[in-house]
Amino acid sequence: MTNLIDSGKTKELFETEDKNVLRVHYTDHTTAGDGLRNELIDNKGAVNNQISSLIFQFLTKNDIPNHFIKKISDTDQLNQRVNMIPLEVVVRNLSSGHFQKRFGTDDLQKLSKTVVEFFMKSDHLHDPMLNDLDAQALNIAKENELITMRHLALKVNRFMSELFMDMGIILVDFKLEFGINDNGQIILADEISPDSCRLIDATTKNSLDKDVFRKQEGNMMNGYYKILHKLENELG
Ligand SMILES: Nc1ncnc2c1ncn2[C@@H]1O[C@H](COP(=O)(O)OP(=O)(O)O)[C@@H](O)[C@H]1O
Ligand SMILES: [Mg+2]
Repeated sequence: MTNLIDSGKTKELFETEDKNVLRVHYTDHTTAGDGLRNELIDNKGAVNNQISSLIFQFLTKNDIPNHFIKKISDTDQLNQRVNMIPLEVVVRNLSSGHFQKRFGTDDLQKLSKTVVEFFMKSDHLHDPMLNDLDAQALNIAKENELITMRHLALKVNRFMSELFMDMGIILVDFKLEFGINDNGQIILADEISPDSCRLIDATTKNSLDKDVFRKQEGNMMNGYYKILHKLENELG
C-alpha cells in the first residue's frame, strides 16, 4: 500500500514509486458552504474521475499544460505532483453564484466581458476574493504567474465553452487551480467536473452541476451522468 500524502474535501492523494507522480482517488464526498454540508453521493467520485479525465485529455490535445497523466481505475487517476498555488481561479461567462450576489444582477445575466477572478483558498476565511496586488503582497503568487494563470484560464474557457456548446450545454462559470511542477512551470492541476463548473442545458436552462446539491433541488447525479455521457459521445 502506498502512503496517503494529503486529502481535501473530495479527493485523497497517494504517493507512487515516482516522487513526481501522485495517485489521486476521487471520493463520493460532496460538500457545500466551505465544507459545512458534507454528504456521500453514490458513484459521484467515479463519475467525476471520468469527466475530469476526459476534459484534461481534451485540454492536453489543445496544448494546455496540465497535471493529468492517465486514469487507472474507476475512481483513481495519476497526476503530476505540483506545488499548488493556493488560489481558486474563477472564469465567468454569465453572472451567477458569488458574482450574482455581489453585484445584485439577475441570475445568468449576460456579461459584456468574460471575467477572471482570484480567490484565496481558505475554507475558514470562506475563500476571500483577492486582486493581483493582494496576491503579490501576501506572497501567494508573483505578477507574471498571475498573468500566466489568467491567460491559461481564458484559453481553457474558450476550448471548454465551445466543447460544451457543441453538446447543447452552456458553460456559465468554473473554477481552476494551478500548481508549479518540477521544472518550475505553471500547469493546470486539480479537477474539472460538475463540482467545479456551472453547466446548464442550453434549451431548458436546467442545472447539470453541483448547484442542484447546493440548492437542495433533488438528485444532482442525473446532471452529472448527462454530462459524462455527452462528453463520451463527443470525445470518447
Ligand atoms: N497535481 C497536484 N499535486 C498536488 N496537489 C494537488 C494536485 N492537484 C490537486 N491537488 C490538491 O489536492 C488537494 C485535495 O483536493 P480536494 O479534495 O479537491 O481539496 P479541497 O478541499 O481543497 O477542495 C487540494 O489541496 C488540491 O489543491
Ligand atoms: Mg477541491
